[in-house]
Amino acid sequence: MKTLDLPDCSLPGGNHLDGGILARGLSELARPGRAAVSLPWLDAERLAPLRRSASRLAFRRARPLVGEAEKAVRQDFEITLEVPAGGRLNRFAQSLEAELATALASLTDPPVEPPRLNDIAVQRYAAGSSGISPHRDHLRYRRLVVLLSLSGQARLFVCDDREGRGAEEVSIAPGRLLLMRAPGFAGSDARPFHFLTEVTAARYGLGLRHDRTKEAPIG
Ligand SMILES: [Fe+2]
Repeated sequence: MKTLDLPDCSLPGGNHLDGGILARGLSELARPGRAAVSLPWLDAERLAPLRRSASRLAFRRARPLVGEAEKAVRQDFEITLEVPAGGRLNRFAQSLEAELATALASLTDPPVEPPRLNDIAVQRYAAGSSGISPHRDHLRYRRLVVLLSLSGQARLFVCDDREGRGAEEVSIAPGRLLLMRAPGFAGSDARPFHFLTEVTAARYGLGLRHDRTKEAPIG
């Protein structure tokens, strides 16, 4: 299976779920052939303020068509990279970066160096949006791609090619964290094809990535 959904587990009175599930997600993602793993991460109470912060940002319409000919990708969403430093979304990214490092350190054979979540993007899909057609995330994104679903309803599939063959769904229900491979994960250069479709309720998603072009020079 290219995808895996780790099950929901309700912790009585618990807000933040056990970080152990992150280590489990990462080791599942390292299995041969695996491209994406979804895990429960935030409950409704923790999610609401992040969603509110996202909804206050200034979005711009993404270009409806990127790339040419057979490589063309259709996209129907709004996006912003203007996420205030020190704001709630940025603080979430920083804490998740630390939690990823802890989770990776707990594994006997960590599949990847801890990613720096130095690229933050928020996407907004209106209800009825056609989503985004099969594509791979840009080569500059390395190690691990992380997507936190803040609200809405849509379906995300990992597939084998631009035609969407071999599609397997992975959950992007609100509160879930999606981990997807990027080059450098588990000794592979894999960049999984994926697409999002069937947006039946307006969706906000927070994308956190390790952009190698923003890495600080060493020395
Ligand atoms: Fe993508």
